[in-house]
Amino acid sequence: MSNNILLSEDTIKQHVKRIGKEISETYSESKEPIIIIGLLKGCFVFMADLVREISVPLQVEFMTVSSYENNSKQKELKVVMDINCSIYNRDVILVDEIIDTGRTFSKIIELIQSKSPKSLKTCTLLNKECAREVEVPIDFVGEVVPDKYLIGYGLDDNGLSRNLPYVGFI
Ligand code: IMP
Ligand code: MG
Repeated sequence: MSNNILLSEDTIKQHVKRIGKEISETYSESKEPIIIIGLLKGCFVFMADLVREISVPLQVEFMTVSSYENNSKQKELKVVMDINCSIYNRDVILVDEIIDTGRTFSKIIELIQSKSPKSLKTCTLLNKECAREVEVPIDFVGEVVPDKYLIGYGLDDNGLSRNLPYVGFI
Protein backbone atom coordinates (compact mmCIF):
# COMPACT_ATOMS: atom_id res chain seq x y z
CA MET A 1 0.00 0.00 0.00
CA SER A 2 1.40 3.40 -0.85
CA ASN A 3 0.34 6.78 0.51
CA ASN A 4 -0.35 9.96 -1.38
CA ILE A 5 2.20 12.62 -0.62
CA LEU A 6 0.91 16.06 0.35
CA LEU A 7 4.15 17.64 1.58
CA SER A 8 7.41 16.11 0.38
CA GLU A 9 10.53 15.97 2.55
CA ASP A 10 11.93 18.85 0.56
CA THR A 11 8.84 21.04 0.98
CA ILE A 12 8.81 20.38 4.72
CA LYS A 13 12.49 21.32 4.93
CA GLN A 14 11.82 24.63 3.19
CA HIS A 15 8.92 25.46 5.54
CA VAL A 16 10.94 24.55 8.62
CA LYS A 17 13.89 26.66 7.46
CA ARG A 18 11.65 29.67 6.77
CA ILE A 19 9.76 29.39 10.08
CA GLY A 20 13.08 29.04 11.94
CA LYS A 21 14.30 32.23 10.30
CA GLU A 22 11.07 34.09 11.10
CA ILE A 23 11.32 33.04 14.76
CA SER A 24 15.02 33.96 14.95
CA GLU A 25 14.27 37.42 13.54
CA THR A 26 11.26 37.98 15.80
CA TYR A 27 13.26 37.26 18.96
CA SER A 28 16.65 38.64 17.96
CA GLU A 29 16.43 41.34 20.66
CA SER A 30 15.20 39.04 23.44
CA LYS A 31 17.13 39.44 26.68
CA GLU A 32 16.41 35.93 27.90
CA PRO A 33 16.22 32.60 26.06
CA ILE A 34 12.81 31.95 24.53
CA ILE A 35 10.84 28.93 25.76
CA ILE A 36 9.44 26.63 23.09
CA ILE A 37 6.68 24.33 24.29
CA GLY A 38 5.76 21.41 22.03
CA LEU A 39 2.60 19.33 22.30
CA LEU A 40 3.42 15.64 22.33
CA LYS A 41 3.37 13.23 20.77
CA GLY A 42 2.72 14.64 17.32
CA CYS A 43 5.14 17.56 17.50
CA PHE A 44 8.30 15.60 18.20
CA VAL A 45 9.63 15.40 14.64
CA PHE A 46 8.76 19.00 13.75
CA MET A 47 10.22 20.30 17.03
CA ALA A 48 13.49 18.46 16.51
CA ASP A 49 13.90 19.95 13.04
CA LEU A 50 12.59 23.41 13.94
CA VAL A 51 14.81 24.13 16.94
CA ARG A 52 17.87 23.41 14.80
CA GLU A 53 16.80 26.18 12.41
CA ILE A 54 16.46 28.76 15.19
CA SER A 55 19.57 30.80 15.94
CA VAL A 56 18.52 32.60 19.15
CA PRO A 57 19.00 30.98 22.59
CA LEU A 58 16.07 28.78 23.51
CA GLN A 59 14.78 26.29 26.03
CA VAL A 60 12.76 23.24 24.93
CA GLU A 61 9.77 22.03 26.91
CA PHE A 62 7.02 19.51 26.19
CA MET A 63 3.45 18.95 27.30
CA THR A 64 1.20 15.96 26.79
CA VAL A 65 -2.53 16.54 26.85
CA SER A 66 -5.46 14.28 26.19
CA SER A 67 -9.11 15.11 25.70
CA TYR A 68 -11.95 13.15 27.29
CA GLU A 69 -15.71 13.42 27.72
CA ASN A 70 -16.90 14.53 31.14
CA ASN A 71 -20.16 13.39 32.83
CA SER A 72 -22.12 15.95 30.82
CA LYS A 73 -20.64 14.62 27.57
CA GLN A 74 -18.56 17.76 27.13
CA LYS A 75 -15.01 17.49 25.92
CA GLU A 76 -12.42 18.40 28.53
CA LEU A 77 -8.69 18.60 28.32
CA LYS A 78 -6.46 16.75 30.74
CA VAL A 79 -2.81 17.67 31.14
CA VAL A 80 -1.06 14.31 31.28
CA MET A 81 2.43 15.82 31.46
CA ASP A 82 3.00 19.47 32.26
CA ILE A 83 6.07 21.65 31.77
CA ASN A 84 8.23 21.81 34.86
CA CYS A 85 9.70 25.27 34.56
CA SER A 86 8.44 28.76 35.24
CA ILE A 87 7.28 30.72 32.18
CA TYR A 88 6.44 33.83 34.19
CA ASN A 89 7.66 36.93 32.31
CA ARG A 90 9.27 34.82 29.55
CA ASP A 91 8.80 34.78 25.77
CA VAL A 92 6.95 31.57 24.96
CA ILE A 93 6.14 29.84 21.67
CA LEU A 94 3.57 27.05 21.64
CA VAL A 95 4.20 24.49 18.89
CA ASP A 96 1.99 21.81 17.38
CA GLU A 97 2.42 19.96 14.10
CA ILE A 98 -1.20 20.46 13.03
CA ILE A 99 -4.13 22.60 14.11
CA ASP A 100 -7.41 20.99 13.20
CA THR A 101 -10.54 22.06 15.16
CA GLY A 102 -8.37 24.37 17.26
CA ARG A 103 -9.92 23.05 20.48
CA THR A 104 -6.71 21.66 21.99
CA PHE A 105 -4.65 24.69 21.10
CA SER A 106 -7.18 27.23 22.41
CA LYS A 107 -7.40 25.50 25.78
CA ILE A 108 -3.63 25.31 26.12
CA ILE A 109 -3.27 28.95 25.13
CA GLU A 110 -5.63 29.80 28.02
CA LEU A 111 -3.62 27.64 30.39
CA ILE A 112 -0.32 29.19 29.39
CA GLN A 113 -1.70 32.74 29.51
CA SER A 114 -2.81 32.11 33.09
CA LYS A 115 0.87 31.67 34.00
CA SER A 116 1.65 35.24 32.87
CA PRO A 117 4.38 34.86 30.25
CA LYS A 118 5.92 38.04 28.88
CA SER A 119 4.60 37.07 25.43
CA LEU A 120 2.97 34.07 23.81
CA LYS A 121 3.12 33.22 20.13
CA THR A 122 1.96 30.10 18.34
CA CYS A 123 3.43 27.91 15.62
CA THR A 124 2.17 25.03 13.54
CA LEU A 125 3.52 23.28 10.48
CA LEU A 126 0.07 22.39 9.14
CA ASN A 127 -3.02 24.58 9.35
CA LYS A 128 -6.22 22.62 8.63
CA GLU A 129 -8.10 25.90 8.46
CA CYS A 130 -11.32 24.52 6.98
CA ALA A 131 -11.87 22.24 10.00
CA ARG A 132 -11.64 25.05 12.55
CA GLU A 133 -14.32 25.11 15.26
CA VAL A 134 -12.60 27.50 17.63
CA GLU A 135 -10.65 30.51 16.45
CA VAL A 136 -6.97 30.41 17.41
CA PRO A 137 -4.22 32.91 16.63
CA ILE A 138 -1.36 31.43 14.59
CA ASP A 139 1.85 33.44 14.31
CA PHE A 140 4.20 31.06 12.50
CA VAL A 141 2.82 28.59 9.97
CA GLY A 142 4.06 26.11 7.38
CA GLU A 143 1.07 25.82 5.08
CA VAL A 144 -2.70 25.52 4.92
CA VAL A 145 -3.79 21.93 4.25
CA PRO A 146 -7.08 20.38 3.06
CA ASP A 147 -9.57 18.64 5.35
CA LYS A 148 -8.07 15.15 4.95
CA TYR A 149 -6.69 12.79 7.59
CA LEU A 150 -2.93 13.30 7.39
CA ILE A 151 -0.15 10.99 8.45
CA GLY A 152 3.63 11.07 8.73
CA TYR A 153 6.23 13.53 10.02
CA GLY A 154 4.92 12.94 13.56
CA LEU A 155 1.25 12.54 12.63
CA ASP A 156 -0.14 9.13 13.44
CA ASP A 157 -2.67 6.70 12.11
CA ASN A 158 -3.72 4.79 15.24
CA GLY A 159 -0.25 5.16 16.69
CA LEU A 160 1.58 4.23 13.50
CA SER A 161 3.16 6.12 10.57
CA ARG A 162 4.72 8.90 12.67
CA ASN A 163 8.10 7.95 11.22
CA LEU A 164 7.24 8.70 7.58
CA PRO A 165 9.57 11.49 6.40
CA TYR A 166 6.77 13.18 4.43
CA VAL A 167 3.18 14.27 5.18
CA GLY A 168 0.71 12.11 3.32
CA PHE A 169 -2.83 10.86 3.28
CA ILE A 170 -4.15 7.34 2.88
P1 IMP B 1 -7.46 19.89 17.28
O1 IMP B 1 -7.67 20.03 18.77
O2 IMP B 1 -8.70 19.34 16.62
O3 IMP B 1 -7.00 21.16 16.65
O4 IMP B 1 -6.35 18.81 17.01
C1 IMP B 1 -5.61 18.27 18.03
C2 IMP B 1 -4.69 17.18 17.61
O5 IMP B 1 -5.35 16.18 16.83
C3 IMP B 1 -3.50 17.59 16.74
O6 IMP B 1 -2.48 18.18 17.47
C4 IMP B 1 -3.09 16.23 16.20
O7 IMP B 1 -2.32 15.56 17.17
C5 IMP B 1 -4.42 15.53 16.01
N1 IMP B 1 -4.83 15.64 14.59
C6 IMP B 1 -5.63 16.55 14.03
N2 IMP B 1 -5.75 16.35 12.70
C7 IMP B 1 -4.99 15.27 12.41
C8 IMP B 1 -4.68 14.54 11.20
O8 IMP B 1 -5.13 14.86 10.07
N3 IMP B 1 -3.83 13.48 11.33
C9 IMP B 1 -3.31 13.09 12.52
N4 IMP B 1 -3.56 13.74 13.67
C10 IMP B 1 -4.40 14.80 13.63
MG1 MG C 1 -1.01 16.91 18.45
